[in-house]
Formats: sequence, structure tokens, C-alpha cells
Amino acid sequence: MTMKCSVFVATSLDGFIARKDGGLDWLSGDHAPGGEDYGYREFMATVDTLVMGRNTYEQVSTFNEWPYDGKQVIVLSHAFPNAPLQLRELTEGIACPPQELLDYLAARGDKHLYIDGGKTIQGFLRAGLIHEMTITRIPILLGGGIPLFGALDQDVRMLHLYTRAYENGFVQSRYQLMGVA
Ligand SMILES: NC(=O)c1ccc[n+]([C@@H]2O[C@H](COP(=O)([O-])OP(=O)(O)OC[C@H]3O[C@@H](n4cnc5c(N)ncnc54)[C@H](OP(=O)(O)O)[C@@H]3O)[C@@H](O)[C@H]2O)c1
Repeated sequence: MTMKCSVFVATSLDGFIARKDGGLDWLSGDHAPGGEDYGYREFMATVDTLVMGRNTYEQVSTFNEWPYDGKQVIVLSHAFPNAPLQLRELTEGIACPPQELLDYLAARGDKHLYIDGGKTIQGFLRAGLIHEMTITRIPILLGGGIPLFGALDQDVRMLHLYTRAYENGFVQSRYQLMGVA
């Protein structure tokens, strides 16, 4: 495989990545003591470029500091539908199908993309282009919110690589794409 696309997310037990209003407060607090990063730094060290949806970008932009220093970040948005890919990347966002984006980034030498944001991940899954998923389940039910998964045209079969339980009750599983059919 020349290019790998990975997901690294935290979800509630009922499968949400954020509250309806985008709130992420349930991810931090007493149940998530500092010092443990759940393998995030190790994962990030292997990533060439982050590809995130506009909603995630807008949420991350409200953080006190930009967490992706030193990493190329591409924001997907339909805001610039007609500009050439390279120009759109330099401005605010790229609108293009996952495969087209992959081909473009592969041609410039990228090998590992971190795909982030619910709708964005769902788009890549529908295209059969999520090769690995690391999902950390937080033991909380939100009852509603922004879902990680959505409708698919075909089944996506994943191979379970490992599941690791942390002392605080977080449970992390990693899966690898087996096939789409
Ligand atoms: N728990 C976690 O680990 C985690 C991780 C990531 C994000 N989040 C949270 O999830 C929320 C955002 O998720 P979300 O599902 O609302 O949306 P999202 O995937 O972040 O953004 C969706 C938007 O991205 C653009 N987009 C996606 N694919 C595109 C494509 N192929 N071409 C062009 N534009 C494309 C569209 O923007 P336009 O409308 O501009 O066209 C679309 O409306 C935020 O609250 C974020 O904080 C949580």
C-alpha cells in the first residue's frame, strides 16, 4: 500500500465524537488524568498530513493553542469549489472526493494521512479509503451528538488488531481494513 489513511478518535459508548453543539467537555476531567496520551504522540509521529472537515477545523481553532504545529493540515470544505487543488490548499479549504485528494497528496510524497471529523471520516469510509482506525471508547453515554459512523453503500470489513483497557476505563481498539463489499 503506498498511502495509508488512519482515524484516531475518541467516542462515547454510544458512538458520538462530540455533543450536538460540538462540545468535547466529556473527554477531559477527573476521569482522564494528565500524563497519559493513549498512544496519540506515537501515532502522530507517523503522520505526514492531517485531513480534517471544516467543522473540526472550526472547533480546533477555538482551542487555546493550535495542536498540530509542524504538521501539514488540509481542511476539507466546499468553500472553494472551482479553484485548482494547489491554490485551494493554500487558502482555506479543499473540496474534492477522497480518492482525488489521496492521489494528489501521494503524488507529492505523502504516505500517511490522519483523517479527522465525523462527516469527513464517513466520506472516506464510503470510498473504502480508511485503512486503519484507532477508537478510544470513553465510558459515558451522551444520548445524542455528532456520530462517528453513518450510512454506507457497502459493508466495510475490518480486522481487529488489538483492544487495550486503561485503568480509568477508557478502552482502545485498533482495526485494519480488510475489504469493502
Ligand atoms: N472525539 C474526537 O476524537 C473528535 C475527533 C474529531 C472531531 N471531533 C468533533 O467532531 C465535530 C465535527 O465533526 P462533523 O461530523 O460535524 O464534521 P467534519 O467532518 O469535521 O466537517 C464536515 C464538513 O467538512 C467538509 N467536507 C467533508 N468532506 C468533504 C469533501 N470530500 N469535500 C469537501 N468538503 C468536505 C464539509 O464542509 P463545508 O460545509 O464547508 O462544505 C462538511 O460540512 C467537532 O465538534 C469536532 O470537535 C471529535
